[in-house]
Parts: sequence; C-alpha cells; structure tokens
Amino acid sequence: MNTELFARDIGVAEFDNIEEMLERLDPSYPVFCFWPETLGARARKFVESFPGRSLYAVKCNPHASVLDSLYHGGVRHFDTASLSEIAAVAERFDDVNCYFNHPVKVRAHIESACKIYGVNDFVVDHPNELRKVLDIVPADAVIQVRLLVPSEHAVYEFSEKFGAKEETAVKLLQAIEASGRKPAVSFHVGSQCIDVISYEKALRLVAKVLSIAGVAPEYINVGGGFPSYYREGVPPLDTYFSTITTTAKSLGLENVEFLCEPGRALVADGCGLVVQVQHRADDALYINDGVYGCLIECTSRQTVSPARGLGRRRTLSKEMRDFRLFGPTCDPLDQFRYPFKLPADMEEGDWIELGVLGAYSVALDTRFNGFGVDASIALRGRSTYDFDGNEHVAGRNKIAPQPGVSTQFPPHPRVMD
Ligand SMILES: Cc1ncc(COP(=O)(O)O)c(C=O)c1O
Repeated sequence: MNTELFARDIGVAEFDNIEEMLERLDPSYPVFCFWPETLGARARKFVESFPGRSLYAVKCNPHASVLDSLYHGGVRHFDTASLSEIAAVAERFDDVNCYFNHPVKVRAHIESACKIYGVNDFVVDHPNELRKVLDIVPADAVIQVRLLVPSEHAVYEFSEKFGAKEETAVKLLQAIEASGRKPAVSFHVGSQCIDVISYEKALRLVAKVLSIAGVAPEYINVGGGFPSYYREGVPPLDTYFSTITTTAKSLGLENVEFLCEPGRALVADGCGLVVQVQHRADDALYINDGVYGCLIECTSRQTVSPARGLGRRRTLSKEMRDFRLFGPTCDPLDQFRYPFKLPADMEEGDWIELGVLGAYSVALDTRFNGFGVDASIALRGRSTYDFDGNEHVAGRNKIAPQPGVSTQFPPHPRVMD
C-alpha cells in the first residue's frame, strides 16, 4: 500500500513520527494518531489467516481514516449495528457487504438497510425480533441466531445483554429455516478475551444447538473478542485461529463457512493519542483528554494504555515515577486509578503519548464540558506500540514495554472499573 498517497488522498496531515508532529504543531489540544501501515497489516493478518470471512466491527472505531486503512488492507465485510454505520460504510466503498448485526433493530432501519443499501444479513436473539425481521427482509436473507455463550475470560462481559439460551436458539433456527430464509449462528465471547478456551466452549455449544435443531447453517460467526496487547501479554492471534479450526474439525463442522467480526484486534495498536499536561500538582497530572473523551478504557486494569512522556522543547529526565492522571472535565469521575510511569520531571506543556488506543476511543468521545478530540493525523511506518498481531514485540520502535499494572491509587468512591 502506498501510505503516502493514501494519507494525502483523504486530506489528513501526515508526519514521519510523533516528535515531528509535536515540533510542527505544538498542540495544546489532544491529537488522535493513526498508522495506516499497522492498521493495514492487522487487516491483512485477519483476511489472510482467519479460517473464513473477516468482518470489521465498525462500532469499535468508525473514524473514516481507520475505515480506509482497513479497506486498503483488504477488509470488504463490515459488522454494522445501526443504519448510520451502514450508511457510513456503504456510501464510502463500492465493493463491500454490510451485516446488520444488532439483535434489536428499528423497523424503519431494517427496511432502509434492505431497500437502500441491499443488506441481506441480520441477527436475532428473540422470537419477537425474528417476527420483526421476517416481516421485512427478502426471501433469500441470512438470519443469524445470536447464541448466549459464557464470557468468563473477557475483560468486557457481553453475556448479560444479548444472546439466546439453547432452547430458544433451537426454536429460532427452526423457525428461520421454516420461513425459507437461510439460518446461521453467531456468538460473542466478550471483548478482550484472553483465553482461547472461550471460543472452543462456544463452538461446542453451537454444535449442540445445531444438532438438536437439525439445521445446516449458512455460516458460523464467531464474533469479536480477539485481544490486543496493552501492558500484559496475550496469546497470539494464530492460537485463536488454529483453535477455531481444530475445534470445528473435531465437531464435524469443517465444511461450514466461518465468519469473525473483530473490532479491537484490528484497530487497537494502530492508533494512539497524544495529550498535553495542563497542570501538575505533586504526583497528579491534569491532561487534556479523559474518560469522557477517548480514554474510558484506561479505567480498566487490563486495558490501560502504555504511555511515554515527551518534553516540550526539552529532554525529559530518565528518572521515572508513578503519576496519577486526571481528565479535563469538572467531573470527579474523570480520573484514572491505575498509575502511569512517566519521567519524574513532567510538567505543564509536556506531552504524553498513550498507545493502543484504536478501540473504543474516538467512538466514545462525548464532548462533555466542551472537551473532545478534533485533530487527527496519519503517521508513516509502524505504530509506536505495534505488536504485529502475533508476537509480543512492543518496543520494536525502541520503546521498552511497560510491566503489567499491579498497583493502584486508592479508588475514588465513584470511580468505575
Ligand atoms: C456484535 C458484536 N460484534 C463484534 C464486536 C467487536 O468486538 P471486539 O472489539 O471485542 O472484537 C462487538 C463489540 O461490541 C459486538 O457487539
């Protein structure tokens, strides 16, 4: 991929590295950074190595430049959860498919998805939603039944809100087949799932439900959940892919087509955020983005960003210490209970590069109190915290990996985790 042409094509400023960007922009505002090369490499990894069709879960990061980078890396299928996500994708690219993979949909949105954008794949987890979908979708539509599976190894649990229990799933699959539509199965093991056993267990459940229902599925969608490397090692993606292949074989499902719809693992390490310190008080640094902006995931121990300090027109000390970070809004929730190890002499005006921030970051920026992230830039080469999707090599750009976060500041009474 010619990243230079690509960045210019989409009208985003492009820099060789973060230091060059800071020198030229001297930003007092937070800057969302993305590396088309790392995003493209992640896309290629899924497209070439996942044993089936790879969709991108747009909700994870709908930034146009991120979508473009994944498209350039070969992604042609998109998990879209709303009409506006479908429109954003279908109106941007000519040769792609959208899947309406939200178990609860607005009737008018289903209708528009079918008639305007030609969407032909839907998901349900309840008989009432199936009735709604059957009222509207074409005769050759694929309807996936989202099966309830345990998410015990995931940082972010999904099993409370969506998913049909076994008996319901059996009935839904049979009803879909009886309607003449094509039945399929999907599940989600939870986000940042750090043990492949979850996929194995879920597939066993899928096999059981299919066998009781007596239905041959159009495909099995194993969802997202594939982890990214923050500050603690995770199994390589190939382990997930080979577990899915081996388990499918052992269950006699090797001839069924498999789909996946990752968000995090495609985009997390290809993006970062540069924030500026606006104020220092002892061990507290007040920065210009926080939990109401792009940093909500830094409130969970296992998805705290790796960080490095960058001095404003000076070289920072080699001595490091733990700092407590506070976001820019007036709400006391806007703080982080896990420490960030940074140069001991950080002060007003210095910057912090927060890495592995492609997932659930800009997508969740609320603009509360008038703060938010407006500036985006592209960077050449691999990202600062690129881990190659397969090896734990944070530090390929000479940044030492940070140890896992083991300590925490006393929790604020209202701080979430
Ligand atoms: C239905 C569905 N698929 C895929 C994803 C992406 O999950 P992840 O980012 O963990 O890969 C999500 C995340 O919310 C989801 O709800």
